[in-house]
Amino acid sequence: MTTSPYEHHEYDVLIIGAGGAGLRAAIEAKQRGLSVGIVTKSLLGKAHTVMAEGGIAAAMGNVYADDNWMVHFRDTMRGGKMLNNYRMAELHAKESPDRVRELEQWGALFDRTKDGKILQRDFGGHRYARLAHVGDRTGLELIRTLQQKVVSMGTDVFMECKVLQLVHDASGRVAGAVAYWRPTGEFVTFAAKAVVLATGGVGKSWKFTSNSWESTGDGHAMALWAGAELIDMECIQFHPTGMVWPLSVRGLLVTEGVRGDGGVLRNADGERFMFNYVADMFRAETAESEEEADKWYDDHSAGRRPPELLPRDEVARAINTEVKSGRGTPHGGVYLDIGSRRSAEFIRRRLPSMYHQFMELAGVDITREAMEIGPTCHYIMGGVKVDADTAATKVLGLYAAGEVAGGMHGANRLGGNSLSDLVVFGRRAGVAASDYVEGGSGPDGFDWGEVEAAVDRAIAPFSNEGGENPYDIQRDLQEMMQANVGIIRTGDEIDHAISELETFTQRVKNLSVKGGRAYNPGWNLATDLPSMITVSKCTARGARDRKESRGGHTREDFPKASAEYGTFNLAHTIDNGAWDGVITTERSMLLTMPDELKALLEEAK
Ligand code: FUM
Repeated sequence: MTTSPYEHHEYDVLIIGAGGAGLRAAIEAKQRGLSVGIVTKSLLGKAHTVMAEGGIAAAMGNVYADDNWMVHFRDTMRGGKMLNNYRMAELHAKESPDRVRELEQWGALFDRTKDGKILQRDFGGHRYARLAHVGDRTGLELIRTLQQKVVSMGTDVFMECKVLQLVHDASGRVAGAVAYWRPTGEFVTFAAKAVVLATGGVGKSWKFTSNSWESTGDGHAMALWAGAELIDMECIQFHPTGMVWPLSVRGLLVTEGVRGDGGVLRNADGERFMFNYVADMFRAETAESEEEADKWYDDHSAGRRPPELLPRDEVARAINTEVKSGRGTPHGGVYLDIGSRRSAEFIRRRLPSMYHQFMELAGVDITREAMEIGPTCHYIMGGVKVDADTAATKVLGLYAAGEVAGGMHGANRLGGNSLSDLVVFGRRAGVAASDYVEGGSGPDGFDWGEVEAAVDRAIAPFSNEGGENPYDIQRDLQEMMQANVGIIRTGDEIDHAISELETFTQRVKNLSVKGGRAYNPGWNLATDLPSMITVSKCTARGARDRKESRGGHTREDFPKASAEYGTFNLAHTIDNGAWDGVITTERSMLLTMPDELKALLEEAK
């Protein structure tokens, strides 16, 4: 190993990202006695994981004994409009209950049934009440629990440390990463035998989003630049319920737990419009009247599901149509009402964060007044192509888990399946990375040329006089993606986005940053923009090539699902880690599902 000109660390396993997947992977590798470093550009405990508020989906059968992994598998595949990697959906459905019980053993305090079991609530697309929860703060409880475990195991955590790029050895195996400290701007290198990407999502490239500043697609982009493939990047989830007012908080999540606990959607005319939007696929199991829907909350065998609990893609599209048809609220949303159906005590106990969020931010008392809500960019189903069992990518030594990985959720994720995804596949990534390290097939060397090239690119904006401000580019990108690659898309809009993204690439190459490297948010954003542009290009290319509507990808010009669908793989020409190489797309067919799983799609009730 050449002596590093920078601060340098060496680990068996390097984890990039400190949300639920990264922490769970770290625990696994620590339990094996390996040295583990976790790098996060944010703070420990602050990740998009906390935005999965309403619960973690697991077929434990605590509320409805008929629930089991087979029904969960079926629900997940149907919700994902069959684009899912079936093996991931199978593993997820089978292993989620154990991961929830494990969280409980590690200290998570779930809400309880009267007889002391973990309580489970209803969510869209899940046949049974299946979401283990802690009020409406489940993601927070999950991350607190994992964080405490990781810290108690003596794991090194590098906070406010932004990874710029992965580093290879001479034969193309992953060998670590190059990063910088946000507080000082000093560079730091990490050599590792295996790397787990757990960097979350991409939502900050859209204008209205539930994601906070961290979600700039760093892991998606780094994996692509390093030689891995991305899949299904056109499948973006617009969560049906984000705040629409006041503007300063537009997009902030309103948990699906509100609908799970009985909240109903009405347009400005007072109509419970979701009854008008039931797709054929869900008609047999969806209530046809308010009376029938209401019965279901008390007894799931007494009626059919309320239409508010259709999968998220269906509900988001319906809200979008209502608003576009002139039946929206004064601030461009629809009404979500729980106060006229549930007691104030029930709402404050079950949905304490929602109560405070609306009271503090909008001056709305949700125990008495309806909320104004509309779709918000929440999650990307697409991501790094991984092996289902091991979370391994195409690049030796590189693993990906959680939102950054693709395949598990197909074209649309069911609410609550994200938290279980994090712990199921975070654990699997930790196991596989540890096996790889123990097997002795780790990297041989560390490409310092890649490090220097990444450092040069990162500091270039300081020596570029008179270029653009990164904030202007970010704002324009968000507006452009919202307008052209949003909830409903057309071929012309997507083509426009693809050409605009080339202009954005040139603008990013010409940006200027003032001041020094320490505590410089403008520079920090400048280092995020290559990822944001790269993932936006992938989304736009996938959206152009998928000439059908499926889940979170709706084409106005191709409104129906096609029988000839597959998955779109995106690859990048590798040029010393440069971010602006050519991105190619190629369609591949889905894996063939074994007959016994196919049968479940029909049989499971
Ligand atoms: O609505 C919610 O609480 C979000 C959950 C999720 O995205 O899984």
